[in-house]
Amino acid sequence: MKRVSYAGLVVITLLSALIIMGGCRATQQETGGIEGTVTDINGEPVAGMGVSIVSGTTGFPEILAITNEDGYYRIGSVPPGKFDVAVHDGEGNRIGLESSVVRSGEVSTLNFTIPTQEVSEEAKLAEEWKADGLFGDREYRGETKYGDYEIRWASDDKYLYIGIRAKTTGWIAVGIEPSSKMKDADMVFGFVKDGETTISDAFSTGAYGPHSPDTELGGTDDILEFSGKEEGGFTIIEFKRELNTGDKHDKELSNGANRIIWAYGSTDKLTAKHTRRGYGEIML
Ligand code: HEM
Repeated sequence: MKRVSYAGLVVITLLSALIIMGGCRATQQETGGIEGTVTDINGEPVAGMGVSIVSGTTGFPEILAITNEDGYYRIGSVPPGKFDVAVHDGEGNRIGLESSVVRSGEVSTLNFTIPTQEVSEEAKLAEEWKADGLFGDREYRGETKYGDYEIRWASDDKYLYIGIRAKTTGWIAVGIEPSSKMKDADMVFGFVKDGETTISDAFSTGAYGPHSPDTELGGTDDILEFSGKEEGGFTIIEFKRELNTGDKHDKELSNGANRIIWAYGSTDKLTAKHTRRGYGEIML
């Protein structure tokens, strides 16, 4: 019988461990992000500019981040790779292009300096928010897609404006800042039936619900305006509320990243479980 020496066994074991670790490392790649500011040549922040990835060494999310009053933007859920990132104004003119490397689980910084004269007030991405069941071209300041679910957002000093759209004729929902799974999420559900939109300001008391209306939990209904539309197999829900409603069943939203959960169901029954759900963030 062939004998394998002890040293040989150690080498084989180490080699196997290295191969396994290498394999693990390949599967441990986490998404990261790109953040930064857009300023003009005088160092002044430029709000209302659209920043998006236009090409990359790997697949990238189709996220359009809009700079806030501090000129700040952030693109999340970016896999490791090298990307070309463009800045454009509300008229679609490209006014900056830079590249950035994203490493596993890290957020890289990419700042843009753009010539002042190229940014006219009219070209900024801003349009008054309207509860009309339509996503205007410049109505929202940020948007993200999770498969067939899309969320758009905007905010000012006092209010939050949200638009959600999903490929369903059933309910669609967003949950803000859960503690774990669905628990403690400040939820807003909506659906359209026979042309009429119903919305519910709810709160999930458990990890998998229930999510009763705030009013049944001793709170208040804080949706100030809303609308919805069902078209071509898609449902859109838009709503407005205060960033800080004062109701303990609503989460206060702050500038920067706010965690969300999203979901949609196949029917209008609000107690029927989702067909799709997931995690994400909105960047105010
Ligand atoms: C309509 C009633 C709902 C019911 C009965 C329900 C029930 C459940 C159940 C049983 C699970 C665990 C199984 C699974 O992962 O699919 C789950 C997970 C989840 N649900 Fe819901 N859900 C409801 C509404 C919502 C809403 C409105 C949202 C978001 C706004 C949501 C977000 C999530 C998320 C993110 C998970 C994954 C949690 C994890 O990481 O395991 N759910 N839900």
